[in-house]
Amino acid sequence: MNTKYNHITEDIKQKILNGTLKSGTKIPSIRYLSEQYHCSKNTVIRAYIELEKQHLIYSIPKSGFFVVDNANPSHDTSSKHSQIDFLSAGPDKEAMPYEDFQHCLNQAINLYKVELFSYSHQQGLLSLRRELIKHLQDQQVFTVPDRLFILSGAQQAINLLVPIPFPNGKSNILVEQPTYFGIIESVQLHPIKTFGIELTMQGIDLNRLEYMFRHNDIKFFYIIPRFHNPLGHSYTNEEKRKIVELANKYDVYIVEDDIFGDLEPDTKSDPMFSYDPSGRVIYLKSFSKIMLPGLRIGVAVLPELLVNTFSRHKFSNDLFSTTISQGALELYLRSGMFNGHTERIKKLYRTKMDKVKHACERYLSPQYYNFTKPDTGFYLSIYLPKRVQANRLAAALEHENVLVDDAKRMYLPEFQKNDLIRLSISQIENTQITPGIDLIAKQMDKLNNRQVNFIESTSRLL
Ligand SMILES: Cc1ncc(COP(=O)(O)O)c(C=O)c1O
Repeated sequence: MNTKYNHITEDIKQKILNGTLKSGTKIPSIRYLSEQYHCSKNTVIRAYIELEKQHLIYSIPKSGFFVVDNANPSHDTSSKHSQIDFLSAGPDKEAMPYEDFQHCLNQAINLYKVELFSYSHQQGLLSLRRELIKHLQDQQVFTVPDRLFILSGAQQAINLLVPIPFPNGKSNILVEQPTYFGIIESVQLHPIKTFGIELTMQGIDLNRLEYMFRHNDIKFFYIIPRFHNPLGHSYTNEEKRKIVELANKYDVYIVEDDIFGDLEPDTKSDPMFSYDPSGRVIYLKSFSKIMLPGLRIGVAVLPELLVNTFSRHKFSNDLFSTTISQGALELYLRSGMFNGHTERIKKLYRTKMDKVKHACERYLSPQYYNFTKPDTGFYLSIYLPKRVQANRLAAALEHENVLVDDAKRMYLPEFQKNDLIRLSISQIENTQITPGIDLIAKQMDKLNNRQVNFIESTSRLL
């Protein structure tokens, strides 16, 4: 081993990571370094090639070597660093499996050169679909490759399902209220009548659901059964079974968005799909939360009767989803790395969620505020008293560098409320949780008290 070469590589790397060598700047010339380290120019060149491989520097012919952008993020984004981010909903950046996945990408290119860069099947690579079938079996979703579609994220599945005709010949859609913003956007972009049913941490009113199924010509009910976005709510097995039963009785389809299913700690919790695998339930899965959103890989299991129509729409939409991500994901699943990664992040998010709930219990006055208490997942929500408006609270907190999400956009227009904020726990740093919740509580109290004082003083004038 050439220790000098390692020594130079490590030295330069440290200078980049600690910000001594800033992004975009030129690094010392080969000649200068060879004099400094008393070594040959070749040794320095080897070190620079290694740093290039690690994506820390790049070369411009005849100009020299430069530090890549964002190579020293902890040092050149000080304002971002001090932000307390309960808003971003991507996976925890520290837990993303970049290196393992990079390895799978390289392997996939070697293994499947031709397939990955040619036109491909609109349902996705058959080899990945076969691998997914095995993975889905572990989640109690038993199906066959012909019913499975690889899509550009679960969002594409949602947006394709919203407008297409269904075998039941019905036209309208039913969603929980509140719900994932992506379906709200999708139904608003299409001329589709959409009904809502209120969801709280106690669930939905099943009598109301039956009424809606019976009277409202519902084509499908879009539901997020585990660790709901934005509430964090999960249905019991009994409730899921009952909803599928009602769907069968009234010939309504269920679109089960199980995006957080991989985080489920309760081994006895079943997906709704398992209560009727014949096709009443369309099962959606995504690799955006558990792995990397940039992969753009989602999965849909469809009823046989819908496969042809859906295929035509998928084909017209984008022909097929990106195959390079598919090839790498297949190897990642096949090697067992996915299972190892999932076990690690299951613990990570559960621990974070516990910490957030604990801080909420400590700082939020139960007299005024109610918050949801999911076992895990990415989201929990705080219900505000009438006097504190979600949009005002979010704006006031932003001034203090605390980011939260006003849940307004997660409601249909006729359900619109201004009393809910969503906290996403996925990208918040552990050390920021307690001070973050403390700041949120103080700001809520400030807005609440200001209103109380105002009401008290004006009532004296009456
Ligand atoms: C409930 C839910 N479904 C679907 C999506 C979209 O996922 P994808 O990135 O796979 O399109 C999201 C993204 O946040 C989500 O929260």
